[in-house]
Amino acid sequence: MKKLFVCAVLAAVLAAVPAFAKKTYVNGIDPNYPPFAYVDEKTGQPAGFDVDSMTWIAKHMGFEVTHKPLAWDGIIPALLAKQIDMVDSGMSITPERAKMVQFSNPYWTVSRVFLVPADSKLTPKDILTQKVKLGVQRGTSEANAIKKEQEEKGYAFELRFYDSAPLAVEDLLNGRIQAALMDELPADDAIAHGRAVKKAGTHGVPDEFGVAMRKDDKELHKLVNEGYKKLMADPYWKELQKKYLNK
Ligand code: ARG
Repeated sequence: MKKLFVCAVLAAVLAAVPAFAKKTYVNGIDPNYPPFAYVDEKTGQPAGFDVDSMTWIAKHMGFEVTHKPLAWDGIIPALLAKQIDMVDSGMSITPERAKMVQFSNPYWTVSRVFLVPADSKLTPKDILTQKVKLGVQRGTSEANAIKKEQEEKGYAFELRFYDSAPLAVEDLLNGRIQAALMDELPADDAIAHGRAVKKAGTHGVPDEFGVAMRKDDKELHKLVNEGYKKLMADPYWKELQKKYLNK
């Protein structure tokens, strides 16, 4: 009995000492980027391929993680201001972002596609060269890339900016825009959910997704890279792909 009491006290003391307590890291997510990250309508809880991946990694690497929904456009500023510690939420590794943050090793590759209404005849070439209204998500790698391309090549399309990919899909359906550029998986997600849209074709080079962290956070960087390595060698990695990515 006495022994038990001593053990309980010891455990309580250890948990209270920072060096023994598990560290909690906050993952900033876009609440509207299915299937990588979203807030589940039924449960109100963060979910998605990236959310479940990081939850698994935390469990197996000995830290705690919470997932905090934030506006995508301000997610890197929030990381630098220490409101969050990482972004594992379908973020493409880009040279511009790498100036401000450090990335984990890439964990997924996706193509960029043009999405159009199901009855549209527009080809990728039409979209680039005609005076169509083209939707993109604000603050994304594809928005920056297509803006730059337009400046260089003088394309005629008019860009429209959205806070999320699903909002761009809504405007495709109600005719406010004629095409949208996004990562292939959110496009597939819209199609899988019965939205009357289709892919008109891919555009540009594929994006690689990585987890963004502050440059001085060496400890977390190591945990995340080792964690992904462990996850990718575990059957759960395939399970996650089946659950969220139809692979
Ligand atoms: N791949 C693009 C980017 O990194 C789109 C990402 C949007 N992801 C998201 N969670 N909103 O900018």
